[in-house]
Amino acid sequence: MDTITITASRVYQVLSGSGLLAQAGRLIRNVLGDKPKKLCIVTDDKVDALYSAALFSSLTEAGYEAVKFVFPMGEASKSMDTVSELLEFLAQNQLTRSDAIVALGGGVTGDLAGYSAASYLRGIPFVQVPTTLLAAVDSSVGGKTGVNLKAGKNLAGAFWQPCLVLFDMDTIKTLSYDLLLDGAAEAIKAGAIADRELFSYINGVQELTEPAVIGHLSRRAIEIKRNVVEEDERDTGVRQLLNFGHTIGHAIEKCSSFQISHGHAVAMGMVIISRASLNMGWSKEDCLTPILESLEKFRFPLECSYTAAQLTQAALRDKKRMGDTITLVVPVSLGNCQLKKLPVTELEAVIKAGLQ
Ligand SMILES: NC(=O)c1ccc[n+]([C@@H]2O[C@H](COP(=O)([O-])OP(=O)(O)OC[C@H]3O[C@@H](n4cnc5c(N)ncnc54)[C@H](O)[C@@H]3O)[C@@H](O)[C@H]2O)c1
Ligand SMILES: [Zn+2]
Repeated sequence: MDTITITASRVYQVLSGSGLLAQAGRLIRNVLGDKPKKLCIVTDDKVDALYSAALFSSLTEAGYEAVKFVFPMGEASKSMDTVSELLEFLAQNQLTRSDAIVALGGGVTGDLAGYSAASYLRGIPFVQVPTTLLAAVDSSVGGKTGVNLKAGKNLAGAFWQPCLVLFDMDTIKTLSYDLLLDGAAEAIKAGAIADRELFSYINGVQELTEPAVIGHLSRRAIEIKRNVVEEDERDTGVRQLLNFGHTIGHAIEKCSSFQISHGHAVAMGMVIISRASLNMGWSKEDCLTPILESLEKFRFPLECSYTAAQLTQAALRDKKRMGDTITLVVPVSLGNCQLKKLPVTELEAVIKAGLQ
């Protein structure tokens, strides 16, 4: 079992390894002790069918009473309606402030359950049990929780750190290759902002699906996220570096009416901003080639069929919240990105330079 300690407003561990679901009750007891009487598992219907029975028996074997809240899988469930149903469920089951939530699933589950944990009784403990690679390498760590509003994604939320993150790497085996790629994109992003060695490592691997590869990528991505979060938990400065590839990535997601998934769009976004940065003379070395080669190695589809005008319009649709400038994350050298503030009027030229 691998352990990474996160020292934020709460100090907690990220444990990863094989067979952790079956040990979850004992591992949670090590952290929360016998204070909680009840644990509420929160999960979507797909993950429920795959993994909640194993988690449920592990919790009850460790002496906890377990209850379960299941919601329909998918981003549409990451809403205030589901939060409201979950809060009512917690109240009906009489969870107290010393009881806890266990989020079993991908980023949707973690964000929704974490936000509900932050607001129920003004905050109860929660444990993240990520079952997608994206959740393991990104969303389960760092304490950003929240849901979507009709006006846009992730517009309601709270900073609320988990007490423990348990990543059972066996759960990754049932993920589709596309979902695995979504997580790999975030791991490559972490490498681009802080670990040039990751690119030589990827160069030498055979297959993304190998457990050793998943283990290495997730460890490095979590360590890099830890370093950034420890420095800037509330996202007012360096944490923005984690948005590398995301401004254009989000625009691609929007242009595709969310048919292109987040990780796939971020992969394209990283390529476009790296090429733009090279062409604009902002990069001190060619960061595009190693990033492109790593993505191609894992067979990411990287063809972007949108024009610079379409992408700019989509990126600036949230302009009211941003003012007249936009902050881009640009690669200066491989493993070292910087924040670059630009007038929004220059964005289209930058994207154009990235599409050439
Ligand atoms: N809080 C943060 O810091 C942060 C960071 C990045 C992304 N996010 C959020 O994360 C969400 C995306 O996360 P996601 O891609 O994990 O989405 P998700 O939770 O919807 O999971 C994707 C799909 O995979 C299925 N699934 C989950 N685990 C599985 C498994 N082991 N085997 C088979 N199928 C499985 C789910 O049922 C779902 O259909 C977005 O809402 C995004 O905003 C949050
Ligand atoms: Zn992302």
